[in-house]
Order: sequence, then structure tokens, then C-alpha cells
Amino acid sequence: METKVTKPDGKKSLNCNSFLYYRFLFLVLFTVTVVCSRLLCINSLTWFPAHVHYPKTPWINRTHEVNMTALNSNMTALNSNTTALNGNVSSMTTTLQYHSAHPRNYRFIMDNTEACKVKTPFLVLMVPVAPGNLAARHAIRKTWGNETLVQGELVQTFFMLGLNKGPGTEQQQEALKQENLLHHDLIQSNFMDTYQNLTTKTMVIMDWLVTHCPNASYAMKVDSDMFLNIENLVNMLKKPDIPKVNYLTGMLMWNRPVVRTKNSKWYVPEELYPDHTYPTYTLGMGYIFSNDLPEKFVEISKSIKPFNIEDAYIGMCMKLLGLTPSGPPNPSQFKAYNSGYNRCEFSQVITYILGSAQQLVKYWTDLKKPGSPC
Ligand SMILES: *[C@@H]1O[C@H](CO)[C@@H](O)[C@H](O)[C@H]1NC(C)=O
Ligand SMILES: *[C@@H]1O[C@H](CO)[C@@H](O)[C@H](O)[C@H]1NC(C)=O
Ligand SMILES: *[C@@H]1O[C@H](CO)[C@@H](O)[C@H](O)[C@H]1NC(C)=O
Ligand SMILES: *[C@@H]1O[C@H](CO)[C@@H](O)[C@H](O)[C@H]1NC(C)=O
Ligand SMILES: *[C@@H]1O[C@H](CO)[C@@H](O)[C@H](O)[C@H]1NC(C)=O
Repeated sequence: METKVTKPDGKKSLNCNSFLYYRFLFLVLFTVTVVCSRLLCINSLTWFPAHVHYPKTPWINRTHEVNMTALNSNMTALNSNTTALNGNVSSMTTTLQYHSAHPRNYRFIMDNTEACKVKTPFLVLMVPVAPGNLAARHAIRKTWGNETLVQGELVQTFFMLGLNKGPGTEQQQEALKQENLLHHDLIQSNFMDTYQNLTTKTMVIMDWLVTHCPNASYAMKVDSDMFLNIENLVNMLKKPDIPKVNYLTGMLMWNRPVVRTKNSKWYVPEELYPDHTYPTYTLGMGYIFSNDLPEKFVEISKSIKPFNIEDAYIGMCMKLLGLTPSGPPNPSQFKAYNSGYNRCEFSQVITYILGSAQQLVKYWTDLKKPGSPC
């Protein structure tokens, strides 16, 4: 499959600039040589540098020697200017590679700096959510987000938010601050929280994991409308054959065609992604990865044009890293549809897509009641 890597445009202008400089230099030297040789009546164009003592002919006056010295020092200045320019061009090249979705273009408004410092979690659950979706956060905090010790392993849940725009934003920001004071689980960055910016949101999640929680063993990006059976998830991750590095798992998507219907929610223009299919990726509802990967994603994403399908984008990062997502030990544990509640089934799955926050609380309460589920 073809890959799209942004061209380091700076390179070309750098070569061009150096070339122009050297051509200019050559012309100057050539002109001086010709003029000098005419003045000195030297037929052969032998070059003699100013700083070397050459036999003095009486009619060579001091001005020529001074000019040679000046020319040499100009050459030195020109060389150092060229070096400075080269430095400037290469720093511009690096900047150009930081495209709009790159997390380092944004800054955290709330980051819960202390979050992973007190205790190192085994598993971090990162939930992208709209700033206004308090209902989803409440439901998660009451259910799977409230499970902090699973099979003796520390699990922590954080919510990832961008910024809202429009009326009421300031009030909402204040409410979010209060909410975070109470729960210490909001991570907010200063990009616009829109559907089109979901890839940015995912990459900011990766950036937070790199910069704030690098010692966790695993992390999961899980949508806010999901049922998550953490017991089963931790059990799965503790299996001895689960890799500790370069591991990404979830519901695998193979050979998915890129949607080119302009009014579709999943439309991606060819300029952003020319290929007809996506590389193998894990469905965005919930994918789990070893925590060495976020740093690699952040780094490789500098060279991948952002497109708004965040899960396929992570698939693209994997591909360029020379890695492939793994199927989970039991693929039937990742359900991407809602066929209604069944206690026995819910006790066996890892993910399940829900219809509402209320459903999550209702199903969870029922699942946790005493008595065998099957
Ligand atoms: C080097 O750059 C400085 C300013 O950036 C300029 O004044 C000077 O003329 C340049 N020297 C040469 C030899 O190009
Ligand atoms: C390089 O950039 C610095 C600051 O950005 C500027 O002052 C300097 O003149 C530039 N040098 C050249 C040779 O373009
Ligand atoms: C991660 O572990 C390293 C080495 O064990 C330690 O120096 C560092 O402070 C830890 N970082 C965090 C955020 O816990
Ligand atoms: C989380 O669980 C603890 C008991 O483990 C309980 O006391 C607390 O009320 C729960 N929090 C929420 C928000 O339901
Ligand atoms: C994405 O976020 C950036 C940064 O806040 C913003 O400039 C841009 O308009 C957003 N894009 C969309 C499509 O919402």
C-alpha cells in the first residue's frame, strides 16, 4: 500500500540557496581574478592568495593587497552567513513537519500533573469526551471508571477534552475546573473540540501519556459510550503471551475502503489520503496498547498528513513504524454492536457499544449484583 509522507520542503530551498551563494562567490572570484590579472599583466591565471608572501614587483601597489585581504574576510563572512542560513532553513524544515494535528502544537489547560507520579498505574484508560458531556463522565465514574484496583493492579481513568467555542464557554470552563478539583481526572488541551479534530484529540492523548504517564504498562483509548469489562481486560493483559512492547490490540479492521462520499461523516478527501483502503487498524471504540507506543506515534505522526479518522490514523502510524496491530486472544470479547443486554454475555466481553449513559449504569448495576451471571 502506498504511504503519504509529507515532503521536507526545506531541503530543496536549502540546496538552492547554497548553490546561489556559491555561484555568486565564484563570479566574484572570477571577476577579481580577471581584473587582477589584467592589472598585473599576468597572462597565466595563476591564483596567489593574499596571505602568502609573493615576490613583490615594484608596480604592484598596496591597494591590491588590501583588496585581497578584504575579499578574504568577505568570503569568511559569506561562509558564516551561509552556515547561519542553513541552520535557519533546517529549523524551518522541522517546523513545517509539525502539521495541524501534531500534539506539540497545543498546550494543556488541565493536565493533572501529579496523576501518575504518586503511583504508577498498570493500565490507564483514556476517554475522549466532549466538554459538555457531563452525563457520560458521571456514568463512567460510577461504573468502570471507579474500578481502581483490579486483580491487584492499579487502573486509572482520565477524560480528554478540547475547548468549546461560542456562548457560555467561560462558564463551562469554570464548571470543568470545579469538576476536576473534585475528581482529578480531566485532561484538557487548547484545540477546538470538534468531530473533525478527533485525530488531534487522540494524538494529544498520546502526548499526555508520553509526558505525564510514561511508566504505565498499558493504556487504552476508549470511547465514552462504551461498556467496559475491566476484570476481563486486566485478565487478558496479564496473560504471559501478551507482548509488553509494540503491542496494539482491539477489534481488527482489515482492508477498509476509504469513504469518498462527500456528505458522509467518514469522508476523507484524496489529498489527505490517496489510497483506496486503510492499513489494518483497531476500531476506535476501544483499543489497547503497550505504553511504549505513544512516544513512537507522536514521533512518526510528524510525517503523516492528518485525516479525521483517528483509528485508521493510528493504523497508519503503526504501518509506518513497521508494526501491525494484533488480534486479541479472544476476538469475540470485542463487540461493536448493541444487540441488547444479556447478563451472561456482558460478564464475558471486554467492550460493548451502548446507546446511552443511563444504559451503562443500568447494565453495570445488574452485572455487579450477587449471583452467577450465566
Ligand atoms: C552577512 O549578513 C549580514 C546581515 O545578516 C550582512 O550585513 C552582510 O552584508 C552579509 N555578508 C555577506 C558577505 O554576505
Ligand atoms: C536566521 O534567523 C535569525 C532569527 O530568526 C535572524 O536574526 C538571522 O538574520 C537569520 N540569518 C540568516 C542568515 O538568514
Ligand atoms: C518513571 O520511571 C523513571 C525510572 O524508574 C523515573 O525516574 C521517573 O520519575 C518516572 N516517571 C514518572 C512520571 O513516574
Ligand atoms: C466508587 O466506589 C467506591 C467503593 O469502592 C464508592 O464508595 C464510591 O461511592 C464510588 N464512586 C462513585 C462515583 O460511584
Ligand atoms: C481543530 O482545532 C484547531 C485548533 O484549535 C482549529 O483551529 C480548527 O479550526 C479545528 N478544526 C476543525 C475542523 O474543527
